[in-house]
Amino acid sequence: MAKIYIPAVDEQFTRVLRDKGLGVPTAPHWIVARLALARSLQLPQFPDEDLAKPLVKERGFEIHMEQLTGENIVAPDTEDYTDTYKLLLSTYHQENLFENRARFIELLQRHIQRGMAEIKASWREGNDFHDYLYQELFFEWARDQATDPEANSKRIQRALGEVGVNAAIENVDDGPRLTRYTLLLAGPADLDRLHKGLDKIPFELGIQRSITIQSVTGERRVALDVPRPERDWYPVEGSKIPGWIKSVQGALPVCPGVDVLGHPLIFDLAETPHLFVAGTTGSGKSVCLHAILLSLLSSGRPVQLALVDPKEVEFTAYEGAKQLFGGGVITEISAAGEMLVETIHEMDRRQKELAKLGVANLEEAQAKGSKINRIVIVIDELADLLMQSSEAENLLIRLAQKARATGIHLLLATQRPDAKTFTGLLRSNVPSRIALTVRTSQESKIILDETGAEKLLMRGDMLIRLAGKESIRAHGARVEQGDIRRWI
Ligand SMILES: Nc1ncnc2c1ncn2[C@@H]1O[C@H](COP(=O)(O)OP(=O)(O)OP(=O)(O)O)[C@@H](O)[C@H]1O
Ligand SMILES: [Mg+2]
Repeated sequence: MAKIYIPAVDEQFTRVLRDKGLGVPTAPHWIVARLALARSLQLPQFPDEDLAKPLVKERGFEIHMEQLTGENIVAPDTEDYTDTYKLLLSTYHQENLFENRARFIELLQRHIQRGMAEIKASWREGNDFHDYLYQELFFEWARDQATDPEANSKRIQRALGEVGVNAAIENVDDGPRLTRYTLLLAGPADLDRLHKGLDKIPFELGIQRSITIQSVTGERRVALDVPRPERDWYPVEGSKIPGWIKSVQGALPVCPGVDVLGHPLIFDLAETPHLFVAGTTGSGKSVCLHAILLSLLSSGRPVQLALVDPKEVEFTAYEGAKQLFGGGVITEISAAGEMLVETIHEMDRRQKELAKLGVANLEEAQAKGSKINRIVIVIDELADLLMQSSEAENLLIRLAQKARATGIHLLLATQRPDAKTFTGLLRSNVPSRIALTVRTSQESKIILDETGAEKLLMRGDMLIRLAGKESIRAHGARVEQGDIRRWI
């Protein structure tokens, strides 16, 4: 009997998709094969011939045609869709597959393998799989909705009407991922109704993402930020960062990305003076750190970078940079501990020098001819460090407390924004925060003191809250290894 093979390399992934993606561990595995087929049929090119080969004797598991298409099925309440599948593939390949069963099976095999690879490449465990399917499998439909601005405005207008809001759309601006509709409300009661109906508007629009309101000018105007499907996002290219920060003043100007309308967001890391970056796995923390580091490297400011990377994969591009503190990227926890002790000594030395010069901070010391430069300590996975080194937390707190004067700044990233990793004292001494997408509103609160990060869109979508300021929605710039290497 004909079977479709799922090779061993895809077997594990099938399980992950079923358990974590669909969230139904009891679902039969052929469901995943059907999804993979649907995904592959979205692509215009034919799947590679090679995809039919590895199945021959490789281990893995098999799906019977009975399970995949319902062929010759005898169970009650089930139907045989084999002819539908044949028709689909015949149309796609412009071949008559009703008369060539072997070819039909082969093509099914190729499509399923390709679809599986597609899903593997573009979906990550942290992402919402249902949302992903919606974007990927219904994208033609979603694109129609998104790319016709006039129809979209009409839809918004209608959705507003449905929730009882009387408003005129004054302006429509496309940002990289969201479209901002500036509304002129008829009266104050409309604002109340808009807030109340906010969760219903995505439903009316047929999108799954949440919509946010920003007040624009007090005069009855609000901005409605409506997410577009991923296919209609504009990339925010990391290679633009050096140009954006080129003529910006400040000791350590950095640009993690752009605001909702696509304008670069730049702040002075020296003023923050420490930054905590958190988000679920795959949300874009490391890429965000790269954007900040690229800013530091390309701005030409004299700075030393102490890079700690317990995972040993994130910071390899920086090897050889002359700014590296201690000469290399730190991957061992013990070496990270030593580096922290060393920077504490450096901090003490600096304090003595400031006292000798009779000044209160680094800028004044530099004005008097001191050669001390700023040091930025970057830790990509704070939880790994804290779990393995009992001393690390106290060292970090000491550094955090005296940084402003001595020019030593912390940039701490973690996928675990919990009370254990981001403890009271560390938390109160690291006042600036970036939240990428998190799982729960509770996590958002730990990072930002407010909810909202649980509704972000992954891939570098973030809320930035600098010390003493309001949080700002931003989209991270996508920085790649090559962008970094150019500045080493
Ligand atoms: N600004 C961005 N623009 C587009 N895609 C992005 C952006 N940031 C991240 N991504 C996508 O998300 C993937 C994961 O990003 P990243 O490695 O930074 O996540 P992470 O939060 O560090 O994950 P982990 O906790 O597993 O280390 C990237 O490989 C990229 O595909
Ligand atoms: Mg990472």
